[in-house]
Amino acid sequence: MDVAEAFASLMSPDGRVDPYPAYERLRAHGPIVQTGPGVYAVTGHAEADELLRDARVRVLDEHLRDGVLPNWRESPAVSSIARSMLRTNPPDHSRLRRLAAGAFTPRRINAMREVIEAQTDELIDAMTTAGRGGAPVDFMAEFAYPLPVGVICELLGVPADDRTLFRRWTADLTGILEPEITAAELAVADAGAAELRAYFTELVATRRRRPTDDLTTALVQAHEAGDRLSGDELLANLVILLVAGFETTTNLLGNGLAVLLAHPRAADVLRQHPQHAPAYVDELLRFDSPVQLTTRLNAESVRLGGVEVPAGSWILLLLGAANRDPRRYPRPEQFDPWRAQLNPLSFGAGPHYCLGAALARLEAQVAFPALLRRLPALALGGQLRRRIRLTLRGYDHLPVTVGE
Ligand code: HEM
Repeated sequence: MDVAEAFASLMSPDGRVDPYPAYERLRAHGPIVQTGPGVYAVTGHAEADELLRDARVRVLDEHLRDGVLPNWRESPAVSSIARSMLRTNPPDHSRLRRLAAGAFTPRRINAMREVIEAQTDELIDAMTTAGRGGAPVDFMAEFAYPLPVGVICELLGVPADDRTLFRRWTADLTGILEPEITAAELAVADAGAAELRAYFTELVATRRRRPTDDLTTALVQAHEAGDRLSGDELLANLVILLVAGFETTTNLLGNGLAVLLAHPRAADVLRQHPQHAPAYVDELLRFDSPVQLTTRLNAESVRLGGVEVPAGSWILLLLGAANRDPRRYPRPEQFDPWRAQLNPLSFGAGPHYCLGAALARLEAQVAFPALLRRLPALALGGQLRRRIRLTLRGYDHLPVTVGE
């Protein structure tokens, strides 16, 4: 199969649901391949890692975006992402990231452990009640969504009653992160973004009147203190913290639980030895990565993996493929929590390395052992349904039974 066909198979609905065969078809042509005019895809671990750290390789920020999509400002979805740290280059990126970074220090994250443990216990109690008599329970709705959304809302100071609002809006907005998007999908993403922006506009006004000690108040005060954070940047970064903070972690919990249920012996070891949770979680992040790709544009020509990538190319960094690079991980298609020096690229690398990586890991390290210990009969309870999404890989529906 040639590169164009391999790439088309990745972009097809089947490829989005299960991208791994298409990754191997692309990899057969080398770690970096040209998939179209000015478009390159990277499947190699070393190559993706190097490009993510290369200062000549940039995210599509608002200045670069003007050249590609001149009327992007009219789209609430595009402008939400474009003014956030995720899509900003230095020096703006360093300024925006520093403002939020204080909330993610190891000390602050460790202090969240008790909140995470308490929420995990409550959600398992609710699953036990809902699943009484062998009734199937949707793990996505009952656990994988509410845990991370509860944690990030606690950090941002979003009132508990509002937390159910975000699932639809966020799922709609994140369509914008797909490598290809139709006009209809953009309209759906715009509607989700408009709701999120309206919500945070109100929360900002409330915190301005009545400051508290949450992250929203800290960002509002940075905005009011002068030129460190514009009003648009404030909204975009609140939205990105919420969206990046839970949709990805929801998918880590869903993808991870499905893998553990498919590997009962490995799950048993974790049940007996919860101290191995960090190694398990990192292997789950590698094996079925919640974020499968990110994109970059190179300001200068770059030569890597035997390929010359000319300046101005659009580069798809296929993190999920890099995490299955056989040069880096022997037998990559096997789930093996005993691998040494894992370092998956699941949280990216370089200046945009995930701000919430420690928080996401902690949530999963608490959740999986608790689920296995408290629900020893946990099993699949029906047909799994994947989302037809490549970038944020996860399940729509993951039915489980919790025993009698
Ligand atoms: C950035 C993955 C959880 C906040 C990123 C990037 C990846 C990623 C791959 C880099 C994107 C790029 O280079 O273009 C994940 C995964 C998660 C997760 C797999 C869960 C399993 C979280 C959480 C938060 C968060 C819990 C916040 C509470 C962010 C932010 C950025 C980011 C703010 C942008 C950082 C920057 O541009 O400097 N994440 N993330 N993420 N993530 Fe996460």
